[in-house]
Amino acid sequence: MIGAVPDLNRAELETLQLERLRATLRSAYDAVPHYRRAFDAAGVRPEDLTTLADLARFPFTTKADLRDHYPFGMFARPREEVVRVHASSGTTGRPTVVGYTQEDVDTWAELMARSIRAAGGRPGDVVHVAYGYGLFTGGLGAHYGAERLGCTVVPVSGGMTERQVQLIVDFGPRVIMVTPSYFLAILDEMDRQGVDPRSTALEVGIFGAEPWTDEMRRAVEARSGIRAVDIYGLSEVMGPGVSQESGETQDGLHVWEDHFLPEVVDPVTLEPLPDGERGELVFTSLTKQAMPVVRYRTRDLTRLLPGTAYPAFRRMEKVTGRTDDMMIVRGVNVFPSQVEEQILAVEGLAPHYLCVLTRPGNLDELTVQVEAAAEPYDGALAARLAERIKQRIGVTARVEVLAPHALERSLGKAKRISDRRPRSTPQ
Ligand code: DLL
Repeated sequence: MIGAVPDLNRAELETLQLERLRATLRSAYDAVPHYRRAFDAAGVRPEDLTTLADLARFPFTTKADLRDHYPFGMFARPREEVVRVHASSGTTGRPTVVGYTQEDVDTWAELMARSIRAAGGRPGDVVHVAYGYGLFTGGLGAHYGAERLGCTVVPVSGGMTERQVQLIVDFGPRVIMVTPSYFLAILDEMDRQGVDPRSTALEVGIFGAEPWTDEMRRAVEARSGIRAVDIYGLSEVMGPGVSQESGETQDGLHVWEDHFLPEVVDPVTLEPLPDGERGELVFTSLTKQAMPVVRYRTRDLTRLLPGTAYPAFRRMEKVTGRTDDMMIVRGVNVFPSQVEEQILAVEGLAPHYLCVLTRPGNLDELTVQVEAAAEPYDGALAARLAERIKQRIGVTARVEVLAPHALERSLGKAKRISDRRPRSTPQ
């Protein structure tokens, strides 16, 4: 069956992982000069891996390594065998480029078909894809997966929100694939047009590409009547479909471990952590041909948990922050997702927000700009949110409540932090 989760027990899965891991290390070492140098420097050879735990002896790979070998230097196959590239823009300078052979594109489509099915999609569904198409992996990743599953794909991409609503009403998709923040923008547009989301055919939302909280899930589900399910991935490791939450259990994301080996490490010491402990997620690809990645540091923070809906496959807890997005306000670590949780607990506020960091004197200050759900709004909202943030997160934040629609909407990943501190400030 297309998109079926392989029927393996844990021991069978680990045997498969070991075999695939050996082949991956061999191909990385033989075909990618960067890996050969890095393995040599660490004093390890592919044949030193005899158990899965031996992977901890191998060096990590970072985004900087990919940038240093821009554009095609990390490919393990001749460029002529690479049928597709994607790239992520990044905030500074060169983008990170990733490549796929035909077999890689097929594997990706299969894993996305598996993900959509796990989320609750079925062959024959109409699937509205509002992830961006282009160098970003979201649109094409979702597209190929939905086609593979046997769905009718509506390749809308992001933007032209008025038309998104029209297409949802006219084409009757049962499934929508979009960033959660852009889905909120679509819901706002439905309100504006007087369309009740519950009157549409939408039943399942497959949301990812950015952090979103369980509070946001509850709010979106209550407002739209759909089931909101989390999908995770990153271009360096493949794109969307590295892990997927089950639409039945909605309890974190099953990592497709027959293709990706997850580890969680201490972000400071880089020592592997046991399952259940929170740290930085690291992935090694097990079947990628064009661009194998060995111990790629994602910067995403999560922990590994035992499988539920698919017992052999471990879950990762919802990613609610990246090491890069951690704000340090007067010594307290804060992630935008923690602010989001508090916003959703204050009635009268909408989950459209921006965390602004400034440094007026010697100390960093956090201002939370957040929209009111409707006008006119209660003047006490700002104080109420500031109080919750102080009580629950332990930081003092200024809160500015803005009129509905005052903040810029993103068509894809929402920007949650605006760092306006002087340049010399260490980040
Ligand atoms: O965002 C791939 C993707 C597309 C995933 C569509 C899901 C849906 P990148 O642009 O390379 O790839 O960004 C990867 O986005 O390291 C996380 O920090 C973040 N991210 C992706 N999915 C989630 C999620 C795509 N479900 C980076 N929850 C990752 C939280 C996510 N963060």
